[in-house]
Amino acid sequence: MTYTCIKITIEDGIGLIILDRPDALNALSDTLMHELSNAINTFDSNPDISVLIITGNDKAFAAGADIKGMVDKTYIDAYSSDFIGSHWHCVSNCRKPVIAAVSGYAFGGGCELAMMCDIIIASETAQFGQPEIKLGIIPGAGGTQRLVRAIGKSKAMEMILTGRIMKADEAERAGLVSRIVSSENLLLEAKHIAKKIAKLSTPSILMAKTAVNTAFETTLNQGIKNERGIFLSLFATEDQKEGMKAFVEKRPPKWKNK
Ligand code: CAA
Repeated sequence: MTYTCIKITIEDGIGLIILDRPDALNALSDTLMHELSNAINTFDSNPDISVLIITGNDKAFAAGADIKGMVDKTYIDAYSSDFIGSHWHCVSNCRKPVIAAVSGYAFGGGCELAMMCDIIIASETAQFGQPEIKLGIIPGAGGTQRLVRAIGKSKAMEMILTGRIMKADEAERAGLVSRIVSSENLLLEAKHIAKKIAKLSTPSILMAKTAVNTAFETTLNQGIKNERGIFLSLFATEDQKEGMKAFVEKRPPKWKNK
């Protein structure tokens, strides 16, 4: 697939995706989302890639779904074309860890896209919001669900009902982002985290991601049972033997990813 709205590179086991519609503040057009979905699926199935990063530019991660592409849509257009459909779930369906590196606006679908990622790193200029209410709609790519889980009902409700924007420092305090770094260091820091993950044993990384995500899907009791099952299953891997032996022998482990 030729990409016109995103750029991709691969470096040191990291698949980097740059959203690239600067004139539209990276508005998430259907074309962009199809390209993103294709890139994510390609990276997910590439054994040389362990971690993905999605980023935008200094001004915008993404200012939401493309309003110009939506303005004239009727219900039946939206329904028939599976608008905000399966291709929007590409990030949540990715088995490998995905890091969002956010500078500038992450509004509407842009905030939802960041929340689909596993870790959000923000620069001090990042702003998050679900301003759909000001357009006469509501968030349509998971915002009403993921924002509540990320920052709690009261803050999420206020943001979704009023369209209030949350700056980076508040987003960090509220637990939406894992840390704030300077704009110049944003990608560097995201790559640093990605490299740390990429150096570890792949089966345990994939299973850890699954176990954490289960926390959003089930009861505490069920989640703990699920975690135990995954934990025990890792004793069947060569990397568990190697990781623990290496600790005992006071040397770095040599992962086989088996
Ligand atoms: N869709 C389409 N185009 C967009 C866009 C969007 N979401 N956001 C910005 N743009 C375009 C603008 O139309 C403008 O294009 P032109 O130069 O051709 O007019 C260009 O990007 C620059 O935007 P502004 O001139 O508005 O830039 P600004 O710095 O003055 O303002 C902003 C920035 C506050 C982010 C403002 O652009 C804005 O409010 N954008 C819309 C944000 C929004 O409502 N997002 C939610 C979309 S709905 C959604 O996402 C549904 C869902 O849940 C999936």
